[in-house]
Parts: sequence; structure tokens; C-alpha cells
Amino acid sequence: MIEPSDPPAAPAAGRPLLELEGIEKRFGGVLALAGVDFTLHEGEIHALVGENGAGKSTLMKIIAGVHTDYGGRMVLDGRQVRFRSARDALDRGIGMVHQELCTAPDLTVAENVFLGNQPTGRFGRIDWRRMNRESREQLARLGLDLDPRMRLGDLPIGLQQLVELARVLFSGARIVILDEPTSALSPPEIERLFAVLKRLKSEGRSFVFISHFLDDVLAIADSVTVFRNGELVETAAAASIDKTWIIERMIGRGHHELEETYTGSIRLPRAPSAPPVLQVEGLSVAGAFQDVSFSLAEGEILGIYGFMGCGQLELARTLFGKLRPDAGSIKVDGSARRFRNTADAAAAGIAFVPESRRSMLFGEQPVYRNMTIAILEKIDRLWLRPRREIEIAGRHVTDLGVRPADPLARLGALSGGNQQKVALGKWLTELPRVLVMSEPTRGMDVGAKEDVVRIVTGLREKGVAIIVVSTEPETVLSMATRVLVMRKGRMVHRFADEAIAKDDLLAAA
Ligand SMILES: Nc1ncnc2c1ncn2[C@@H]1O[C@H](COP(=O)(O)OP(=O)(O)OP(=O)(O)O)[C@@H](O)[C@H]1O
Ligand SMILES: [Mg+2]
Repeated sequence: MIEPSDPPAAPAAGRPLLELEGIEKRFGGVLALAGVDFTLHEGEIHALVGENGAGKSTLMKIIAGVHTDYGGRMVLDGRQVRFRSARDALDRGIGMVHQELCTAPDLTVAENVFLGNQPTGRFGRIDWRRMNRESREQLARLGLDLDPRMRLGDLPIGLQQLVELARVLFSGARIVILDEPTSALSPPEIERLFAVLKRLKSEGRSFVFISHFLDDVLAIADSVTVFRNGELVETAAAASIDKTWIIERMIGRGHHELEETYTGSIRLPRAPSAPPVLQVEGLSVAGAFQDVSFSLAEGEILGIYGFMGCGQLELARTLFGKLRPDAGSIKVDGSARRFRNTADAAAAGIAFVPESRRSMLFGEQPVYRNMTIAILEKIDRLWLRPRREIEIAGRHVTDLGVRPADPLARLGALSGGNQQKVALGKWLTELPRVLVMSEPTRGMDVGAKEDVVRIVTGLREKGVAIIVVSTEPETVLSMATRVLVMRKGRMVHRFADEAIAKDDLLAAA
């Protein structure tokens, strides 16, 4: 909370538009928000930061009318309001892009841009022509050249995220809440998004921007509010603070080390002389990537870096038998393999952590079940299962710092970042020969990212050959022992046995 005497108050961009007082929210016995006072000004970009589970999404869902059962007061434009639904909030000019994609994959791009808001012509018929034209224009403002008639689900996840952003940004909402909007975007898209936000801001619109990318936060926000354990710790003008200030208030521990991991340059070791576990040669999937070759030995972590859409996700899927290559070969431990499906790849010892982990999680199931599902058939004695499962999952819950640290908790009750940790835990139950991970730290706070780095490094020391595919330079640099850079479906650079920093990766991509 800001005391009147605190020097760096939020810059008074405009008048207070939305004021929250004493907001309290419980989920059963869990106090998710404890007496939060929060103000959003007109024409302001206000960032929220905090550890996984700190209460950021919960507060925003109250503002956006998703959670209707809460204590405290909300004042919009000087008048007290209490929304009964998300529709209600939207009608009052408040829109939200959720942390989890809320798009309809089976509808077209245009239908998604206008979701719930289709323009109708005479006789109430949907005006398709206008919808396609306007959605094309709106997407172009975000730098996208997409056919609005395409099925949304056929697009990569980052583009789906942009389509959802377009829907809310151009819906006319005065207050737009963005819950981790950049997690699947690459630097050029983030830049375009920020340019759009700045323009809309100059028109008097207000934004709440939630992110674990503190560089992004400092680049775009006017003010920053830190949450911790359901409480608002402090609000400050972005211009008056730095990353250390934020991390200190977020976790209040080891912030110097944490920062080091992600900003410094790293020294890649020399490639080991061990025999390769995985050999890939001239691998191609038409329209996705061409002529990719590399080899990977035990105890190596190969980072594959590139902007979204450079073909790296498709490469990862091919290694796991999800996509069939048109040319090239894959060898595991020296013998050539043709994967007809993912079961073939798994039998060859390849495990895959995909970037869209939600699809593999079961919200209504307990945490432990979500972690052990991959090995169920291996726990042979049926009556021992639950006990063994809880025991195994309990270890991972502790290792990964899942909060609440309870293997019996319902998965859906965990915050976004904590669900991601559970998804990762699923692959720690049994050591594969090769572990392919796509965006392993997406949605995690700085402390949790460090936990993942520690875990992956531990697997490497146990001899697992690891591939980390990511559009985040920090993720690649924090783990890799060797790096491949891809651009437009081709491998354009290799880094090994040298010092590299974030700028080198960006320049190579
Ligand atoms: N639907 C729910 N049912 C029960 N508990 C919930 C529910 N949603 C959130 N919680 C709990 O409320 C607390 C705050 O969660 P919230 O999702 O707001 O965190 P967050 O700050 O958005 O974290 P993240 O960075 O991981 O997204 C957590 O303890 C979480 O487990
Ligand atoms: Mg959240």
C-alpha cells in the first residue's frame, strides 16, 4: 500500500478511473487476496508483478466480472459497481485477455476477432464480408497478414494469442487487462504490440499488464505494482525503479543471483567426446523447416532458439513423432528410427514436453494424478497405485516448489504458473533417453524459473540428453550447453565453446 508520504507514487497519468478498496477473495480455506487497495488511472499502463500464486489473475478476474463473490468495493468513474458477469464488465468497458487462451479453435480467425460481437446486417444476419474485412485490418495493426477465413486452431499458438489480443484491444474497451500477453510472442511482435498499446494509451485508454518478463514491464509500464501472498506490497512509477527493486519486493531473497542468471552472458562448454545419443540429419518437413542436422550426446543440453514461426516447434514435434519428416533421418543410439506416431518415439526413449501444456492437464483431477498419468501402467500393483502415485508426485511437488505443496489439491485450483510446474513434473517421474522440452519455463516467475533450471541441469547430470526449444533467449541461455539458431525454417547459426549473451542470439535470429 502507498502511504501518502511515499516519494515515488504512481504517475498521475490522468484521473483515477477504477478504484478498488479492501478487496478480499477466498477460495474455500485459501485467502487469495487480503484487503487489496488498487487504483488504475486514465491513460495509464499499470503493470502487475509477483510470484506464481500471488493473486494477480484473481484480482483481475474480479475487475473483469469473472469472480463475482468477493469482499470490498470497486468504484468505476466515481460510482460503485459490482459486476454480475464478464459480459456485464465488458458492457461497462472492461475487457480482459486471459492467461490461458480463450479462443475458439474451430472457428475462423475473423469469428475469433469478433467473438461474441459479430456485426450483423439487415435481418440480423451476420455480415461476413464486413467481419472478414475489419478483422484483416485489425490484425494488420498488430503486424499480421492472416487470411481471416482460416480456422484459428490451425495457427501456431503465438498467432492465436495475437488474434485474441486483437479481439480485446479493438473491442473498444476503455480498460484492457492483459494477463501475460507476451508469453508466446517473439521480440518483433512484442514491439508491435507495445506500439499499439502506446497509441491506444494516448487516446486515453488504460491497461493492466501482467508479466513475468521484468524487462518488458519496465519498457512499457507507467507504474508497477508488486503483489506477494495475496497482498499489494508497493506501487511505484516505472521510471523510478529497476529490476532489483521489483525482485526484492517480489521474493525478497537472493535477487542478485536470480538476476545474474538471466541477464549476464554465459560461457558454453566444449562439446563432450561421448558418443551421440541422438543424430538428426537433413531433416525436413515441407512448409515448416528444411535440412536440419545436429547431434546430441549424453549430458548435453541443446538450446534451439528462434523467433516464433521459425520452425522450431515443428522440429520438436517431429522428433517426437507428432509430425512425419519428408526427408532426412533420426538415429537414436546409432540406429535409424522412423516414428509413425508418438508412441514409437516414446518407445525409443524420447519424451516431449509441449509448449501448450494445458491440453495435457486435467483440471478436475488432483495434482498427483496429473503428474503420474504418464507412468500409471508402470506402477503394476493396482491397489498400491494411489499411495505410490501420491508419494512420487509429493517429491516432485516439493522439488518444483509447487504451491500449494499438496499433491491432493485439485489442479484447477492452482495459479497458472503452478499448473505449468505440475505439467513439467509429469516428465520427471521416469528418466527418458532424450528429453525434448518446448518453452519449459513459460508463465513461471523468476524463482520458479530458477527451480526449473536446477531440475533440468540435474537431469543432464544424470545423463539425459536434453533439447530446449524456446523463443525466450533467457530460457535458452540459462540451460543450454550448445545453441542452434533457426530462422525461417533453417538453421542459421551454431554456438558452442564460446561466450554468448542475449544480444548474440537476437542478432543471429
Ligand atoms: N479457481 C480457483 N479455485 C481455488 N483456488 C484458486 C482458484 N484460482 C486461484 N486460486 C488460488 O488463489 C491464489 C492466487 O492465484 P492467482 O491465479 O491469482 O495467482 P497469479 O498471481 O495469477 O499467479 P501466476 O503468476 O502463476 O499466474 C493461489 O493460491 C491459487 O491457488
Ligand atoms: Mg495468473
